[in-house]
Amino acid sequence: MAAKVNVIVFLSVLAFAFAASQTVPIVIWHGMGDSCCNPLSMGSIKKLLEREVKGVYVRSLEIGDGIVEDTENGFLMNANDQISLVCSKLKNDSKLAAGYNSIGFSQGGQFLRAVAQRCPSPPMLNLISVGGQHQGVYGFPKCPGDNATLCNIVRQLLNYGAYVSFVQDHLVQAEYWQDPLNLEEYRKYSVFLADINQEQTVKPSYKENLLKLKNLVLIKFLQDTMVQPRESEWFGFYAPGQTKDILPMNQTKIWTEDRLGLQTLNSSGRLHFLSSDTDHLQFTETWFIENVVNKFLK
Ligand SMILES: *[C@@H]1O[C@H](CO)[C@@H](O)[C@H](O)[C@H]1NC(C)=O
Ligand SMILES: *[C@@H]1O[C@H](CO)[C@@H](O)[C@H](O)[C@H]1NC(C)=O
Ligand SMILES: *[C@@H]1O[C@H](CO)[C@@H](O)[C@H](O)[C@H]1NC(C)=O
Ligand SMILES: *[C@@H]1O[C@H](CO)[C@@H](O)[C@H](O)[C@H]1NC(C)=O
Repeated sequence: MAAKVNVIVFLSVLAFAFAASQTVPIVIWHGMGDSCCNPLSMGSIKKLLEREVKGVYVRSLEIGDGIVEDTENGFLMNANDQISLVCSKLKNDSKLAAGYNSIGFSQGGQFLRAVAQRCPSPPMLNLISVGGQHQGVYGFPKCPGDNATLCNIVRQLLNYGAYVSFVQDHLVQAEYWQDPLNLEEYRKYSVFLADINQEQTVKPSYKENLLKLKNLVLIKFLQDTMVQPRESEWFGFYAPGQTKDILPMNQTKIWTEDRLGLQTLNSSGRLHFLSSDTDHLQFTETWFIENVVNKFLK
């Protein structure tokens, strides 16, 4: 009897170890106004992933020490510094050495794309961008989170001038601000977005590294009232020189000049456009499990 129990225990330990070794870990990066561990947002996503993907290791990125600093850094810590920090955190995490999947929420989407382009090791396998602003934003209609002080700072600095070097160095939202009426300034002074979108010196490694992804999944919220323009979530943006007409991804230079390898990703079936007919980040668990977890994370 005891021997039989032991065999069963042994087999289930083995099965668990096998499942764990087969499961690709997941790194998640929260959005603006949020933090790594809010039980209502990233905390519940982490739990959902752990429940749906048996044995998975989920790391929710914390930028700085504690929730207050992590939230504040989402507004005020230079995006390039955040990405360097995350690259060293990922390198340093032995559980990710064989590769990981990643999910970026809102600005976390473009930040994780920058990680994929700049830091190929450990390898990112699938990248899920949940409402990320890949062509940036032009407008700040709503400020997520509940810290009015931070929101006022952002508005004042954007009014002061998104491309002023002091603002570029310190304000995250200015670093992915694309002003279609001032594209020359954007290309010249944007310290983050213009770089990762190859608007400045073209870096061949950015394209090579992005092409290492198994899949790039872009989720757009069709009723988004936070992101202007919402088409940025699928690499679309305002046509140059005005703020009304939108160019879809395949008419933007990123696509036509194939600056990031999006054409190759698409023709090899690795670029996926998903949408949810809801406001920013307002998806249901069922939608997320069916469209994202079951398709890309198992
Ligand atoms: C790397 O890991 C070590 C040991 O866990 C830790 O002390 C160190 O702070 C980590 N560095 C970074 C950048 O996360
Ligand atoms: C709001 O942000 C300010 C500036 O970063 C910070 O000093 C303050 O502690 C924050 N308030 C809350 C409630 O987190
Ligand atoms: C661009 O994509 C749209 C669908 O989003 C398609 O209808 C159109 O034919 C494409 N245009 C080009 C030039 O590939
Ligand atoms: C992406 O690839 C699909 C399938 O090969 C093709 O039908 C579609 O037109 C491509 N999209 C663009 C924007 O060219």
